Amino acid sequence: MSVTVIFGSDQGCTRGIANRIAKKLNGKSLDIKKATAEDLEACHLLILGCPTYGFGDLQSDWEDRIDILDDVDLAGKKVALFGTGDQVNYPDSFIDAVGILYDRVTAKGAQVVGFTETAGYDFTGSAALRDGRFVGLALDEDNQSGKTEGRIGAWISQLT
Ligand SMILES: Cc1cc2nc3c(=O)[nH]c(=O)nc-3n(C[C@H](O)[C@H](O)[C@H](O)COP(=O)(O)O)c2cc1C
Repeated sequence: MSVTVIFGSDQGCTRGIANRIAKKLNGKSLDIKKATAEDLEACHLLILGCPTYGFGDLQSDWEDRIDILDDVDLAGKKVALFGTGDQVNYPDSFIDAVGILYDRVTAKGAQVVGFTETAGYDFTGSAALRDGRFVGLALDEDNQSGKTEGRIGAWISQLT
């Protein structure tokens, strides 16, 4: 199974996580700044990662390139999402960007895999929730970095 991880990152955190995930899955990791529609299509499992900025916005490079999702055929494609965020300083918009990506890829027919439970997090609101679960992997390197490795491992075992 070929895996491509596409990420956006201002400060490097999400880049590092994307590289770790890609390595574990023998896949490749690409910055959204450089990704092409073909990069998104030419893999069995597409993983998209984005930190949340502002109060609930996509990271700026994702914001600039979001229309790439209109150009790709995602019908029936397996897509997994992850987000980095800060539940202490932004408890009302924790990993909101993941919810934005979810709406965009499902509108294109993607089959999103890798939903996760909210137990172990402490936040008040997130646009990344559907029926009480995160629609992807929620990571908080600012406050819970010690939990990241275990969370990534459990999530990956769900995807493969
Ligand atoms: C100005 C600013 C706004 C942020 N807004 C949010 C937010 O609304 N929700 C959230 O979960 N995290 C928020 N964060 C936290 C970042 O998403 C988090 O630090 C992330 O790990 C940064 O990833 P990066 O290093 O790849 O850019 C914000 C951080 C900054 C500096």
